[in-house]
Amino acid sequence: MPPKPPLLPSRVRRAAARGPLVAALLALSACGAAEDSAREPSADQGGAVWGADYFPNTTLTTHRGERVQFFDDLIKDKVVAINFIYTSCPDACPMETARLLEVQRLLADRMGEDVHFYSISIDPAHDTPEVLAAYVEQWKIGPGWTFLHGSRDEVRALQKKLGVYNGELEDIVGRKQDHKLTLVIGNQRSGRWMKRSPYENPYVLANQLGSWLHNWKLPAAEQRDYADAPAVRTVGAGENLFRTRCSSCHTLGGGAGEKPGPDLYNIHRQRDHAWLRQWMIAPDAMVAAGDPLAVQLVADHGGVVMPNLRLTDVDVDNVMGFLADESARIDAELAARAPEPAPVPPPTPPAGSESKAPCHSSPCTKVLAGAACTSPNLRHFGRPVDATSPHPPPRWLIGVQVAVRRVRAQPAGNA
Ligand code: HEC
Repeated sequence: MPPKPPLLPSRVRRAAARGPLVAALLALSACGAAEDSAREPSADQGGAVWGADYFPNTTLTTHRGERVQFFDDLIKDKVVAINFIYTSCPDACPMETARLLEVQRLLADRMGEDVHFYSISIDPAHDTPEVLAAYVEQWKIGPGWTFLHGSRDEVRALQKKLGVYNGELEDIVGRKQDHKLTLVIGNQRSGRWMKRSPYENPYVLANQLGSWLHNWKLPAAEQRDYADAPAVRTVGAGENLFRTRCSSCHTLGGGAGEKPGPDLYNIHRQRDHAWLRQWMIAPDAMVAAGDPLAVQLVADHGGVVMPNLRLTDVDVDNVMGFLADESARIDAELAARAPEPAPVPPPTPPAGSESKAPCHSSPCTKVLAGAACTSPNLRHFGRPVDATSPHPPPRWLIGVQVAVRRVRAQPAGNA
């Protein structure tokens, strides 16, 4: 029970006994209520309420094999993001991991300094510290983010204290559905806790962790005028789906780079449509059934399997439409900005190299390998794209431009 009950409205005190999240939300709603305002907890008092008396000091083992105490070592006086995952989860957990990876990148060197991420396994029998370490490596998780193993009962108790207990693992797996959202962010010292959706915009999450929960005390990196804000445009269903469900793992014309999945620029031209549709609906089932292309793609992506996002046929139509439209928009913009140059004679491929093997994954080889590829002509990419464009050239394009210039600089037939 909270150590300082008189500081809180009674309904918040009752809720605190059930879970901090319920109580935190009530406490926040209490902020606006005049009759409660005098009794609101101050920042530090909030931390005292949900302090060592509230959170268990559970012993957990990190993916590095260290023993740590939940309250003393992990959350005390810290700004944290905590979620509950299991590494064999085919749907929601990889989504959360991918989204948090984006947030981690945005927070950059603040990770491990004043913001800490913890992913606690709800499947301790399978997710030993060694398995968690392999997961960290597979997903290229950076510093400041720790994966944790603990006893099943104690982890369940932590879930309940954080207000994110969704039932037993067997039920979650058996339900074959999203294991609901289990991300909580908070500042233990101020006692401010929030439940978040991993589908949220990563910039918003990074701002909440990096600024809100630090009480806006840190200087903003950049002050900009509202007058500079771009006009709001209408976002269609396909684009909305891509931004909320796919963009944490895929770029579209931006080069895969740091994302776990491949770039999806012009993917509809490179793959059979029925195959694409089947893949988007149930990638896990295709991998399990041994579909050769699916298995190859997973191998090319370090064993990370795309999550089953439970898309409907309508979702797939929408997202495929968006991928095609956006690829066409990029093509049109590049073509309009760069008039077609004099044709470059394609290099003669060595005998026996006419394979049409995966072209899309490496734009440079498309240019350099010439005729063997089914993918679009990239010659105009050698021209600089106007840097003031509302869609500045993606980073990978610069690499392609350099490659094209090198090919052009070589004498004909010697590329
Ligand atoms: C958590 C990461 C993740 C999310 C989210 C995700 N993908 Fe993927 N996707 C991957 C990975 C990784 C691959 C490569 C194959 C593999 O390893 O499973 C892939 C492969 C693909 C491919 C096949 C690419 C090819 O070369 O044929 C398509 C198409 C695709 N994803 C579309 C989508 C769409 C559409 C969404 C959103 C509705 C989405 N993905 C969401 C990780 C993700």
